[in-house]
Amino acid sequence: MTKGQPAFLPPDASITVHAPAKVNLILRILNRRSDGYHNLWSIMHTVALEDDVTIRVTSSGRGIKLTCGTEGVPDDHTNLVWKAASAVLDHAGLPVGIEVELCKRIPMGAGLGGGSSDAAATIMGLNQLLQMKWSITEMAEIGQALGSDVAFFLFAPSAIVSGRGETVRPVIIEDRRWIVLIKPSFGVETKWAYHELASTRTGVRPLSAEHAEIDRRDQLTWDQLTAAAENDFEIPVFAKHPLLREIKRTLLDLGAQFALMSGSGATVFGFFNEESAARLAGAQLKENPELKVFVVPTCLGPLRVSQSLPARPTLG
Ligand code: C5P
Repeated sequence: MTKGQPAFLPPDASITVHAPAKVNLILRILNRRSDGYHNLWSIMHTVALEDDVTIRVTSSGRGIKLTCGTEGVPDDHTNLVWKAASAVLDHAGLPVGIEVELCKRIPMGAGLGGGSSDAAATIMGLNQLLQMKWSITEMAEIGQALGSDVAFFLFAPSAIVSGRGETVRPVIIEDRRWIVLIKPSFGVETKWAYHELASTRTGVRPLSAEHAEIDRRDQLTWDQLTAAAENDFEIPVFAKHPLLREIKRTLLDLGAQFALMSGSGATVFGFFNEESAARLAGAQLKENPELKVFVVPTCLGPLRVSQSLPARPTLG
């Protein structure tokens, strides 16, 4: 990636990027690689449960300042947002200060990719603010070094993801559907889930003919995905957390077309064709105070940018 100066530095410009959660409609975990990661094959889709990432660039300041009002969210260099801002500054080679305000709504340890989405939103927002004109592929190159799911969010709303998570091919899935996300009071650590899966299964199952067919497509239907939905993490994670299996069963009883754990958990989601059925199921599950329940549509486009100061004319 080449370093470059932006056309100009708009003084104290700011932007808000809305960072959506994702669900895995299919998640297959394949062989372990020599770098310790696993090859995976997944269909991911963004859903309209969003964090807000507000970014301000100050030409007078230096360094990165992150603020976040949510308990348990680090506001230092360990946060993926901070790492993303740092990586962008490094690639851009710019003498500016960056202030980021993070408003969290996506639960953590949830398999919903919240931290990765925030990082992608930071890269995208800075690309726009600093007028770097990086392509999605260039931004994804920066993102994939930060975490396995970051690149996906730059290609949102839907993509076939493979390799360690860095190989992302957008795929068209027509129309919006409704998702009921159920997050229990506990989280699941991704590293633990991979370890548990690898140590409990007898071997790696290759991609089915059905999934291989999906892999060849540029466009998919919801019917195709409903028939092919599965997640390899369910067996080891449900064995440790039987409540998740119960939630899945309840969602199916309440009329979900299918129900699945997302990522390595702990969120389980129900997929509904109709908003009314999704809302009824959500209301039922909200009666349990131990569960966080979100009823949201699937996203129809890339990450939304809701606010941007007008660009100033190029200086010199
Ligand atoms: O990249 P990320 O931080 O999300 O990964 C967390 C952990 O999950 C890694 O340290 C690794 O142990 C495991 N992982 C894996 N294969 C992947 C992605 C993650 O083994 N494709």
